[in-house]
Amino acid sequence: MKFTSPRGMRDFYPHEKAWHNHLLDTWRRVSVRNGFEHVDGPIFESLDLYKVKSGEGIVSELFSFRRQGGKTDYAIRPEFTPTLARMVAQRANSLPTPIKWFSIPNLCRAEKPQRGRLREHWQWNVDIMGLQGAGADAEVMFTAIDFFRELNLGPEHLRVKISHRQTARHILSRLGVVDDDMLAAFDLLDKRDKIPREAFVQEAAKLGLDEDRVHRLEQTTRMKYRCGELDQMRQQLGMDEDLRDLAALDEQLHAFGIAPWCEYDLGIVRGLAYYTGTVFEIHEISGAERAVAGGGRYDKLIELFGGPSIPAVGFGMGDVVISLVLDDKNLLRDDVAPRPDAFVFALTDAGAKALPGYVAMLRRADVHTRFSYRTTRNVGRLLKEADAVGARYAVLLDDDVAEGTVQLKDLSVGGQEPVAIKAVADLIRKRESAQG
Ligand code: HAM
Repeated sequence: MKFTSPRGMRDFYPHEKAWHNHLLDTWRRVSVRNGFEHVDGPIFESLDLYKVKSGEGIVSELFSFRRQGGKTDYAIRPEFTPTLARMVAQRANSLPTPIKWFSIPNLCRAEKPQRGRLREHWQWNVDIMGLQGAGADAEVMFTAIDFFRELNLGPEHLRVKISHRQTARHILSRLGVVDDDMLAAFDLLDKRDKIPREAFVQEAAKLGLDEDRVHRLEQTTRMKYRCGELDQMRQQLGMDEDLRDLAALDEQLHAFGIAPWCEYDLGIVRGLAYYTGTVFEIHEISGAERAVAGGGRYDKLIELFGGPSIPAVGFGMGDVVISLVLDDKNLLRDDVAPRPDAFVFALTDAGAKALPGYVAMLRRADVHTRFSYRTTRNVGRLLKEADAVGARYAVLLDDDVAEGTVQLKDLSVGGQEPVAIKAVADLIRKRESAQG
């Protein structure tokens, strides 16, 4: 029998896992320096948790199951926000606010596998709970941008596209969409670029939008404005009240120094049903890829899960699209696999006898140490082997090992020197830290 990984799922061989670890480590480091604490939750939850307020899109993509003989329906987590809201609701009285949490769960969605969309992905979640107002919205956006800068991505590569549920609601209700159909209309707008136009027109008709109104909707939702251009938007849309939140956000985006990364895009509504205010997606600038990240304000969700009324804002960023973007721009680092500090090999029988004990000593001193499994004593071949795995130092064991000495060879500069066995670990560490 022959097996492969299930459709839309990935195997991570060492090279791929090294990049994945680097990405996850960078997410962790950036989260911590922005003041977020690490949390996690269970890999599956009761199915109902996702039925409360995630919306049709997510519910139709659940991997759900019931244990043989069991009575409860479960679903593998397709997103983290419901778990987060449940966790906060459960301990709301004892958690000091504001709550700033990050998590990096793996999630499963039964989507049709395609470029940028798989059935399992890792998602960086960054959320602030307990703060009303645009400052927190801008802070989570800043955190995403802080991460992009770490990977040498700039505003010439990515755009944070911002809108507001109230603005979208206003545009839709002016076109005749009634309140009861509003969530369905958000969902439809969200998938506009993912479905054929005829299907979009058909669905829109069910919401009372004829061809002419669909055309007007398309025109409005293709409008984009840079930060600082809200007055133009206000004039063109004939809106005032509903742009108050965006005006406050505009100020914060400038204050955080991230205005060049951001624009207002009325086509962004987000498919998830729980968003209440600011919504945003981060896209590669040409628009060629699926969204790198998406998020927004969800001020009612924690209350809906039985907790007190706690405002919240955050985003999720998957590992798949950001890796594609970096790869396209030749910014995907392939030097992130851990390199051995020491590669040990024996040149004599006495050396071979001492090798295991010596390797054990270095490893106990926390030196990343490998050795050759081959029986050859040919220095040239052994050095090649050390070089192939990227080792920084070769440690050669010959008959001097009986006197407590080894030969240490720096593989980047090439010099070789006798060093006392006990001094090798310290010496390697000192030189590594001197090189930074
Ligand atoms: P989302 O837009 O469903 O939002 O997902 C956020 C990001 O996760 C997407 O922009 C994309 O990068 C990645 N993603 C989603 N589905 C897939 C997939 N099938 N394959 C690869 N990547 C994927 C949420 O999940 C919200 N819960 C985020 C949030 C956190 N909102 C507030 N806090």
